[in-house]
Amino acid sequence: MTKNVALVTGGVGGIGTAISKALARDGYRLVANYLVPGSEARWLQEMREAGHAQCTAWAGDVADFDAMGRMVQEIERELGPIAVLVNCAGITRDAQLHKMSKADWDLVINVNLNSVFNVTRHVIGGMIARNCGRIVNIASINAQKGQFGQTNYAAAKSGMYGFTKSLAQEVVKHGITVNAISPGYVGTDLVMGIRADVREKILSQIPMGRFARPEEIAHLVSYLASEQAAFVTGANYAINGGQHMC
Ligand code: CAA
Repeated sequence: MTKNVALVTGGVGGIGTAISKALARDGYRLVANYLVPGSEARWLQEMREAGHAQCTAWAGDVADFDAMGRMVQEIERELGPIAVLVNCAGITRDAQLHKMSKADWDLVINVNLNSVFNVTRHVIGGMIARNCGRIVNIASINAQKGQFGQTNYAAAKSGMYGFTKSLAQEVVKHGITVNAISPGYVGTDLVMGIRADVREKILSQIPMGRFARPEEIAHLVSYLASEQAAFVTGANYAINGGQHMC
């Protein structure tokens, strides 16, 4: 039986695709939001090959509040109520602060943090009215420990923790859960794009001796979206191969 809609922002990216597949497998009518025109074609093909032909890709800039309002309205009108929201869209513009441009600061804050407000704000009213919902925010190990070259990214991702815990308190009485996941370094294009010598150094700091597989993050999202996770809210799950323990 097809459940309600699950919306994954940045759903066609490295981690996003694995999350999309996991939620589609769980029976949700999966919608992956994406930004770059054309990036959805390969994703749609991959989803079809994985047996998830019902999935939909939806264009829209998560940094644009009004565009997200229109997107949520259209999805709910055409496919039904959004039961699960995964805020996964994210980018990096790494540079030491003394070299960082204002544009790269603003872009990372807008895409990685303001986006969480821009999408969730439009979804939360429906969830409250229906007295159910699951929200999962994809943060980062670097929000927990900080990272040389990532003042913008770490600030945005750790902002997600305050958002998660505050919203969790506001909506708990409506049976809605809000949680965060903090992945370590996952073997996606984002991480493989780090300069080779820097990447090797990072790898040497991971006790597990490898980068995470996107599916390992997706399994945790699947659990947090499930009925079995009804008592879990306001939590943050580290999943980093032992690189950072707190
Ligand atoms: N700690 C302390 N010092 C460091 C350092 C570190 N981690 N990394 C570099 N340095 C020092 C270098 O030793 C060097 O010192 P000297 O000038 O004295 O020799 C100096 O800083 C300059 O180093 P770089 O050549 O690396 O500086 P750069 O300006 O060319 O590049 C950078 C800076 C772009 C930030 C580069 O270091 C980098 O790409 N770092 C990786 C950042 C990172 O981990 N990003 C994560 C991306 S993936 C992601 O974000 C997903 C997720 O959630 C995990």
